[in-house]
Amino acid sequence: MGMVSGKTALVTGSGAGIGRATAVKFAAEGAKVVVSDVNAEGGEETVAMIEKQDGKAVFIKADVAVSDEVDALIAKAVESFGRLDCACNNAGIEGKIVPFIEQPLDNFDRIIAVNLRGTFLCLQAEIRQMLKDGGGAIVNLASVAGLIGFPGLAPYVASKHGVNGLTKNAALEYGKQGIRVNAICPGGIDTRMLDSLAEQSTGGEITTREMMDPLHPIGRIGTPEEVAELIVWLCSDRASFVTGANIPIDGGFVAQ
Ligand SMILES: NC(=O)c1ccc[n+]([C@@H]2O[C@H](COP(=O)([O-])OP(=O)(O)OC[C@H]3O[C@@H](n4cnc5c(N)ncnc54)[C@H](O)[C@@H]3O)[C@@H](O)[C@H]2O)c1
Repeated sequence: MGMVSGKTALVTGSGAGIGRATAVKFAAEGAKVVVSDVNAEGGEETVAMIEKQDGKAVFIKADVAVSDEVDALIAKAVESFGRLDCACNNAGIEGKIVPFIEQPLDNFDRIIAVNLRGTFLCLQAEIRQMLKDGGGAIVNLASVAGLIGFPGLAPYVASKHGVNGLTKNAALEYGKQGIRVNAICPGGIDTRMLDSLAEQSTGGEITTREMMDPLHPIGRIGTPEEVAELIVWLCSDRASFVTGANIPIDGGFVAQ
């Protein structure tokens, strides 16, 4: 029996990276999975990966920053699989690395719209549905940048601190109705986003691994699969007393 057998799970931004690994892991542990992304090609690819391992998944396109699209996503998810037990609010963008006083307002607005507003909209719609279904579990993707600052990344850092705050509030307000809400705070994870951040920092002079591995006390960056492991566990009944937490998964990064 899988960790989440018989449950229904939604993963936003699951057309690539951590979201894709999470969708695949949910399916491997027995859940029916709603794969969602702005990128339809990536999303359909994730569905194909799940079906290849005999899992059940559908793709539903949605931009998490758009309220109507998020509402339609939840409605279609429930139409597909009947209820919503687990949700992972993973969709996010990094934007540009720019000194604080030079940050363009459009960079700030877009990062806040996707990472913070997007997480807020998804939480609202998911919790409304879970209240009807009698409970559920949600994991938000914050970051080590939701716990400490990173020069050049003010909008991203602000958005991820905000995600950790939303997580605490949602957990407090709906705990008694059987809904658990947690955030995880990954360090460097081997995805397109980390490549973009490394490239912006070094101008491509060294590889992502050369730049990022030594920054982590464990001596390396993490894999999307390692993060997926924690997310699916947090959404499973095994994590029944964990809520309102902002959990680092970072090879010791914030212990420094
Ligand atoms: N990679 C890391 O090192 C790292 C570290 C800490 C936190 N995170 C967080 O983990 C999450 C996933 O990051 P990743 O590294 O897998 O990134 P990624 O860029 O590889 O994948 C992100 C996915 O989200 C989708 N997406 C972007 N904007 C969207 C929107 N408005 N609506 C719906 N989907 C959208 C993209 O199309 C893509 O498929 C993000 O929230 C990120 O901030 C990543």
